[in-house]
Amino acid sequence: MLVSAKEMLQKAKAGRYAVGQFNINNLEWTKAILLTAQEMNSPVILGVSEGAGKYMCGFKTVTEMVKCMIDELKITVPVALHLDHGTYEGCYRCIEAGFSSIMFDGSHYPIEENVEKTKELVKVCAEKGMSLEAEVGAIGGEEDGVVGMGECADPEECKQIADLGVTMLAAGIGNIHGKYPANWQGLSFETLAAVSEKVGAMPLVLHGGTGIPADQIKKAISLGVSKINVNTECQLSFAAAVRKYIEEGKDLQGKGFDPRKLLAPGVEAIKATVREKMELFGSVGKA
Ligand code: 13P
Repeated sequence: MLVSAKEMLQKAKAGRYAVGQFNINNLEWTKAILLTAQEMNSPVILGVSEGAGKYMCGFKTVTEMVKCMIDELKITVPVALHLDHGTYEGCYRCIEAGFSSIMFDGSHYPIEENVEKTKELVKVCAEKGMSLEAEVGAIGGEEDGVVGMGECADPEECKQIADLGVTMLAAGIGNIHGKYPANWQGLSFETLAAVSEKVGAMPLVLHGGTGIPADQIKKAISLGVSKINVNTECQLSFAAAVRKYIEEGKDLQGKGFDPRKLLAPGVEAIKATVREKMELFGSVGKA
């Protein structure tokens, strides 16, 4: 069964740890993340971007795949299926498809419009028992072809959006998606502390989890971050492991070309990355 992310994130905020959102791209990804969450007895959030949803043949296909997998693999830890950086239309498609959580990314709208649309979605999600993530201050980097610079959110605007009754709030604090450039200044803890003070008990979300040094992750959690998104890092470890398999010529030995064999090292690499993140975030044993 899929659950809203509300309870797991409120527990994380109170317990000063964070739940990982790991983005999925296909069956192998989903299986690797679900099995690792179960093995670590950790709650988990499966993130689906609109691009990945399209790639996997639509949000309905994704919902059914995840639900059936939870059943077949006997996954008992809390799992939320969450739309990552949703457009207004995308949010409604995921609500209809049976997701248990959505992110409405209205950060590129003027704040009034972000407020209006978020307010409406708060109502719809409350009726459906779904969790809703809102965003203030665009997260930089590239995602699905859209490139932005890391911004620092205005704490007052964060309060305005948090007060609408969203479940969790993503605030830009100098984080970006993808690999961090060599001249990256690090997270703005000043912004994070100011936002945290304004929004009180609201769980905060840190996007761009790939490549943030462990000490900055820990400090962010201590300042109120309860959900951390990781995408690129699983892609990098998957690609490196499959590359190694092919470069060692293993696909040319026996039935090494069988996709179940060819992709196996990639799956193991995703598992290792997810395990490492869950340990760092402190969500192990918190299911
Ligand atoms: P990374 O790809 O940098 O890990 O970011 C993931 C993310 O924030 C998804 O919303």
